[in-house]
Amino acid sequence: MTEQIFTPVATTDEIQPGERLVVELGRRWVAVFNVDGQYYAIEDVCTHDDGPLAEGELYGCEIECPRHGARFDIRTGKVTAPPALVDVAAYEVRVVGDEIQIAPR
Ligand code: FES
Repeated sequence: MTEQIFTPVATTDEIQPGERLVVELGRRWVAVFNVDGQYYAIEDVCTHDDGPLAEGELYGCEIECPRHGARFDIRTGKVTAPPALVDVAAYEVRVVGDEIQIAPR
């Protein structure tokens, strides 16, 4: 098993509960969410037609794409409502001190 490489992307004070932040990781845009103090990260590109997911409404742990309404579970990246059919990438998230770090799954 290969060890995951975590990258610091933000500090905890930058993403308050209920907020999200879009960060650049390599050549990808990743949306990092704070839901009641728990952090989640998914790729910020809808698999239906490239909508910016972080600009959508969050319902519990489901983000709704602002373009055509597809929904994804931000804990897993799985599609929960069409028109998207393909899951988005989800990232492992950990907090070290006040640093939020993410790694590809
Ligand atoms: S681009 Fe996201 S639902 Fe169409």
